[in-house]
Amino acid sequence: MDERVIQQLIDEAKKVRERAYAPYSNFKVGAALLSNSGKIYTGCNVENASYGAAICAERSAAVHAVAMGEHSFKAMAVVTASSKPGTPCGICRQFLSEFGLDLKLFLANLEGEVVKTTLAEYFPAPFSPDSLD
Ligand code: THU
Repeated sequence: MDERVIQQLIDEAKKVRERAYAPYSNFKVGAALLSNSGKIYTGCNVENASYGAAICAERSAAVHAVAMGEHSFKAMAVVTASSKPGTPCGICRQFLSEFGLDLKLFLANLEGEVVKTTLAEYFPAPFSPDSLD
């Protein structure tokens, strides 16, 4: 993928990370999802006083995109302020897998460290629509 597009995706994830609502963990996460139609949909983590009701940034971005009519995605950037870039949690891996394992992942921290991987690498055996047959 074009380096400028990757950087744009990371920048969008960084920007939306600032809007994260994380008063309980103080761990803010931003995600930016690039659709195959070329649009970027962002999301941040939103926590809740009932802790288990929180939603992660990755699912927030995917829900945003689906609400805008998108089902086909190329790449996602995720930005955290951790010393090593964060990795999507198991629920988010399963959630994203619904739309294809070929999703490219760019996991970045604020120091500019970027891990380039794919959902397939992180989540090779999802419960998929085929599993329902
Ligand atoms: N979080 C995400 O937004 N994405 C992940 O993949 C892992 C965790 C959020 C959930 C919670 O609001 C905070 O980070 C600490 O776990």
